[in-house]
Amino acid sequence: MDIREALSKAAEYLIEITDSPILEAELLLAYSLEVDKYELITKSNRILTDKEFDHFWQLIKDRKSGKPVAYILERKEFFGLDFIVTKDVLIPRPETEILIELSIEYIEKHKAKSLLDLGTGSGCIPITLLYKTELEQARAVDISNEAIEIAQRNAKSLLPIQKQNRIGFQKGDILNYNDDTTYDLITSNPPYIPSKELADLPIDLSFEPRSALDGKEDGLTFYRYIAQILKKNMKKTGAAFLEIHSTLAEQSIKIFNDNELQSELYLDLANKPRVIKVTFK
Ligand SMILES: C[S@@+](CC[C@H](N)C(=O)[O-])C[C@H]1O[C@@H](n2cnc3c(N)ncnc32)[C@H](O)[C@@H]1O
Repeated sequence: MDIREALSKAAEYLIEITDSPILEAELLLAYSLEVDKYELITKSNRILTDKEFDHFWQLIKDRKSGKPVAYILERKEFFGLDFIVTKDVLIPRPETEILIELSIEYIEKHKAKSLLDLGTGSGCIPITLLYKTELEQARAVDISNEAIEIAQRNAKSLLPIQKQNRIGFQKGDILNYNDDTTYDLITSNPPYIPSKELADLPIDLSFEPRSALDGKEDGLTFYRYIAQILKKNMKKTGAAFLEIHSTLAEQSIKIFNDNELQSELYLDLANKPRVIKVTFK
């Protein structure tokens, strides 16, 4: 079977589970053959060996089972950077890019120097902000050792050498956070899915770490603790950008407004509530 036929067979097989079967088949075949995606197009008549086809088809079967492409490729592009992702970290989402845009604008306007990122996962938030701005220091915290290991690898592979020592990773618990430093900017995309919704998640989300999704009872537990962290660890002139569940905007905002803080809501590209900016009143 040649490349063209293999792609066509795979795309047909994947059609039920994805809106982009051709693109995904191409990505998986390129990964499997360790070639550039464009090489597939220019060499579409090349015959695959049985071993090459079997390897490719195993990946296609993984995808058919619902496993996200990013976990198969162990890569996800976020804000133009190519992050390593494994089953131990949430796949960075396009929705989170709005938080990055708002933070970059804030850092540049206010000449912010220090950042704390809570629940860092792959490290996509602090690494992107360090890469794109003149931030001087970032601390990235997660409860998962495995996530911290991935975030460290991402910092090493993505940040220019002169910025690599500007980020420190720390195992820590948002629900029992102990830090005396104050920061110009605090960011977080905490787990925010109410526990009772976890049973009915779409199949692809079932591959992501539960601890990255589980926002406990009402999905708001982390925000209650983050409000206390902001009161202690955010500079009086500082700000926080927090991702929220689109259906919990009002309740999220109330938590901060009841805590000597004030919040401003931002929508994502689909016009859904997605990020709040929190400052002192
Ligand atoms: C929704 S994911 C976000 C990951 C990453 N910041 C992103 O935007 O892709 C939430 C992260 O919080 C971490 N986490 C869960 N419970 C935590 C806790 N109690 N303390 C610190 N981090 C926690 C998870 O391990 C996960 O990496």
